[in-house]
Amino acid sequence: MNLLDGKVCAQFYKDQIKAEAEQLTAHRGRKPHLAVILVGENPASQSYVRSKVRNCALVGFESTLIEYPASISETELLSKIQEINLNEAIDGLLVQLPLPKHINEFKVLESIDHRKDVDGFHPINAGRMNLGLPSLLPATPYGILLLLSYYKIETAGKHCVVIGRSNIVGNPMSRLLSRNTNPGNCTVTQCHSKTQNIRDICQSADILIAAIGKAEFVDDSFIKQGAVIIDVGINRIDDASLAKGYKLVGDVHFHKASPKASYITPVPGGVGLMTIVGLLKNTLAAAKKEIYS
Ligand SMILES: NC(=O)c1ccc[n+]([C@@H]2O[C@H](COP(=O)([O-])OP(=O)(O)OC[C@H]3O[C@@H](n4cnc5c(N)ncnc54)[C@H](OP(=O)(O)O)[C@@H]3O)[C@@H](O)[C@H]2O)c1
Repeated sequence: MNLLDGKVCAQFYKDQIKAEAEQLTAHRGRKPHLAVILVGENPASQSYVRSKVRNCALVGFESTLIEYPASISETELLSKIQEINLNEAIDGLLVQLPLPKHINEFKVLESIDHRKDVDGFHPINAGRMNLGLPSLLPATPYGILLLLSYYKIETAGKHCVVIGRSNIVGNPMSRLLSRNTNPGNCTVTQCHSKTQNIRDICQSADILIAAIGKAEFVDDSFIKQGAVIIDVGINRIDDASLAKGYKLVGDVHFHKASPKASYITPVPGGVGLMTIVGLLKNTLAAAKKEIYS
């Protein structure tokens, strides 16, 4: 079993991003600039946002964190997004999800200028990605593609099973791996909560990607000998013996699955770190106007 080490891989890409950011900053006189909007006090969201801001600084980006209480109105939030859309000193904008129930998430995502949509969730970016056109890609599937590239995992002609059909992970991941690109050219089967015989389907996967949100759902009985396992899940399990009171586990039972895997991502230390890289790459692309001029 080989570890797909998100830490090592993320550092490789962050070094590249930093060098490119320095060049861009020297050329145009200002750093790539990401704005992040956080609504409410969800601890997981707060931790993701802190990590995004910290990583911006590490690669030489400027970042602005805008925090609102959960009681903010949809109108007020949309008006802030509009202000950032028009601010030429800001290259990328993301609104941390989930949002409080009284705010229409889709309306918010659609209100972001698609050229600044560094999460890749705007319908223009999602549509262009589905058509195989250049676009800002959803950060998690983008990070997984970068991880597969870094470790030179052969994908062409392989059977890839993706568990999950969210617009954030499962759907774009399935689409990206079936595109005629490298990584890509997989034959993709997508599973969800209504899929029958899911274990049998997974057993035929050369590459298995789990994006379910259920702690250690995938064990060795799902896995073909030698399969590549990508664990997207981040699940908090109460553990009173730890100082923070919980531990993080993936959707894959790492210790049961790893003896059968040729490659496997750990949780933490795998896909989560690559999601940040996807976000940084999108922010740099937006700053360079690589996709939309
Ligand atoms: N590492 C990262 O950077 C990163 C980024 C994003 C998300 N995540 C994590 O990845 C996981 C998935 O996130 P998400 O946003 O895609 O979640 P989501 O929107 O809740 O989607 C979960 C998907 O899993 C499917 N599912 C649920 N139970 C299932 C079962 N028993 N059998 C088969 N499929 C089942 C659901 O099917 P239905 O559609 O039928 O309900 C749904 O499509 C979460 O743990 C999340 O925290 C990690």
